[in-house]
Amino acid sequence: MKIGLITRNENGWHSIQLRNAMKSLNITPLCFRFPDLVARVKCKPILSIKRVNILEDLNAIIARSIGRGSLEEIVFRMDLLHRLERLGMLIINPAESIECAVDKYYALTLLEEQGLPVPRTVVTENPDEALEAFYELGENVVLKPIFGSRGIGITRVSDPDVAIRVFNTISFHHGVLYLQEFIPHGGSDIRAFVIGDRVLAAMRRVADNWKTNVSLGAKAKSIKLNEEIENLALKAAKTIGCKVAGVDILEKPEGPVIIEINSQPGWSGLQSVTPVNIAEEIVKYIITELK
Ligand SMILES: Nc1ncnc2c1ncn2[C@@H]1O[C@H](COP(=O)(O)OP(=O)(O)O)[C@@H](O)[C@H]1O
Ligand SMILES: [Mg+2]
Repeated sequence: MKIGLITRNENGWHSIQLRNAMKSLNITPLCFRFPDLVARVKCKPILSIKRVNILEDLNAIIARSIGRGSLEEIVFRMDLLHRLERLGMLIINPAESIECAVDKYYALTLLEEQGLPVPRTVVTENPDEALEAFYELGENVVLKPIFGSRGIGITRVSDPDVAIRVFNTISFHHGVLYLQEFIPHGGSDIRAFVIGDRVLAAMRRVADNWKTNVSLGAKAKSIKLNEEIENLALKAAKTIGCKVAGVDILEKPEGPVIIEINSQPGWSGLQSVTPVNIAEEIVKYIITELK
């Protein structure tokens, strides 16, 4: 069996974990980047890397990274994943779920439509409307890039003068204003790691400020989720369509709320407080899906 791994850096920690997991399960890994792929129409092979027909060569593909790129590059990369899926390739995560998860507004609407708890959020291109929303959300908001990750570019605005300047500047540069009520969480939140229909492991992320991303220095603490939060994480991942998902959950006094689903979650922090080998569990899941 051979599994492709789309990664920007085959020697990065996660790629090494996945490659080692594959080897220990007798699977040959093939690491590649999107620019390695060639797509053909009305000639063959339909999808190849150095003329090797990947539809024949690979059993499944793990899409770890879509990467940075222009709109054209990203759309083309997603087209490639969709084409592979239509031709029968198992891709983790499915292309559609990557598209849903990467878009914070789209993902939040899908969760809300399923009746799942999410924070009050206002999204607009209009800076004047954003200012009105700033007051509506209690003059204490988190402003997020719709396509952001790892806490990068997320800011907290609680001063109306700052709000006006920031909203106008973002709008001038054609950004979309995504404003969310600030949820006081005391510097910690929950990350649930979902594989298939179970929560494999979870952690409390503890930071010395309000951003709890492990990539920004938050510390991982092992936790066992209660049934309510576990079911919430599973429903959220299912709603977005992710087979492997990192679900971020904040705790309000009234109950938990989901702030985002990560379709390409890292697990180095979680692995440090979890006895199971997470990479192996991902690969084992793919093997069962192939059967
Ligand atoms: N509404 C909010 N209230 C309080 N803190 C938040 C809120 N939204 C996000 N955060 C903090 O910022 C971090 C990053 O936000 P998140 O929406 O998960 O985006 P990213 O994709 O950058 O991880 C969260 O882990 C959390 O600590
Ligand atoms: Mg997050």
